[in-house]
This record gives sequence, structure tokens and C-alpha cells, in this order.
Amino acid sequence: MEDIEYFYRVIENRRTVRKFKDKPVEKEVLLRLIKAAIWAPSAHNAQPWHFIIIRSREVKERLAISMGEKFREDLLANGFSKQECEKRVKTSIRRMISAPVLIIACLTMRDMDKYPDERRQKAEYVMAVQSVAAAIQNLLLAAYVEGLGACWRCAPLFAKKIVRKVLNIPEDVEPQALIEVGYPDEQPLPPPRKPIEEILHWEGW
Ligand SMILES: Cc1cc2nc3c(=O)[nH]c(=O)nc-3n(C[C@H](O)[C@H](O)[C@H](O)COP(=O)(O)O)c2cc1C
Repeated sequence: MEDIEYFYRVIENRRTVRKFKDKPVEKEVLLRLIKAAIWAPSAHNAQPWHFIIIRSREVKERLAISMGEKFREDLLANGFSKQECEKRVKTSIRRMISAPVLIIACLTMRDMDKYPDERRQKAEYVMAVQSVAAAIQNLLLAAYVEGLGACWRCAPLFAKKIVRKVLNIPEDVEPQALIEVGYPDEQPLPPPRKPIEEILHWEGW
């Protein structure tokens, strides 16, 4: 009974943490996070994931600055003022560098099924995305029980080429997410959830 309560408490109490203490995260702990990630379910058990752990300040900086250039380009295209763009890019770079650890979650279609038609190939790709997402969720939960905080960020999706280049990622491997990890320096309140009645449908919509 206690185990069940603990399990649901972990799921409910995990929070996205965006401020971290300036304290390194032990390698063994990071390995446990990846171990938790790879026990996620995956389509055909293809395990279409790879993870890149970044702890070096130099690599974080190179990645953050290069991604910042793409971010600036996108913001300018959105019509933001130059000043606003610079402010946002600077915040993004500072945030990435100040996270003690960055984990890049990647997707590969190498071991997924291959289809001759677009409809089934697209579905197969979605399955790979869903599998990687399941792995990331396991990682976030593991981080929480280890006393760490983490934030799942979508930024690499908007700068795939740049992330690939900076981190030397092969052409057939796609960066999907960046997870900032560290010991938490904030205790965020839980963002509200939609009421169950609003999103749950029994026996059809
Ligand atoms: C696919 C995905 C992308 C996200 N991207 C970002 C992001 O770019 N920046 C950020 O600060 N949080 C990001 N988040 C975190 C969400 O904002 C957060 O999970 C949500 O507000 C609920 O808060 P909670 O995780 O504390 O329950 C992302 C979460 C997911 C699942």
C-alpha cells in the first residue's frame, strides 16, 4: 500500500524546475537517470533513443551560443524588436549555461519498421517520437526521486541542424529535446491540471 501511495506521490509531485544550485551532479546518478529512461516502453521495442550528456561548460557554451543564433533569427522573423530579441536570446543562453547538466534526447529511425508509403511511414515516425517521450518522462521521474530538478525543453526541435553540428550527431539521428538537470534552487507550485471531467470520455467522446 505504501509503495502505491509513494508511486502516485512521485508522479504528482514531480515539477519542472528551471533554477538550479551551482552544484555538480554525480556521474553515477546521471547513469541511473539514463537507466530509468531506457526501461520505458518503445514501439517494437526498437528503443529509438540516444542520449548525450553535457557537463562541460565549454560545450554548454558552444551549444547555447549556436542555438541562440538560430533563436535570434526565428525571433526576428516573428517581428520582435532587435532589443527584445537580444534580451530573449541572452536569457536563453544564460539559462542553458547555468544548468549543471544538459541531456539531449535524440531519436533514430534505424531500428524502426520501414514502409514504402508516406501514411505508414509517418505513423512509424510518430511511434518513435512517442517512445522517446516515454523515455524522457521516466528520466524526469528518476531525477525527481534522486532529489534533482529537471526541465524538458523543446528548443532543439527548432535548431536540429545546429545541435547536430555542435555535438557531432550523425545525420540519421535527430535531436528531440534538451533536458536541464541539477539540484533544485526553487520549489515551483504545481501548475493546475484540467479537471478529469473535462478530458476523460467513457465509451467514446
Ligand atoms: C514537450 C515539452 C516541451 C517543453 N518545453 C519547455 C520549454 O521549452 N521551456 C520550459 O521552460 N518548459 C518546457 N516544458 C515544461 C512544461 O512547461 C511543464 O511541463 C508544464 O508547464 C507543467 O509543469 P510541471 O512539469 O511542473 O508539471 C516542456 C514540456 C514538454 C512535455
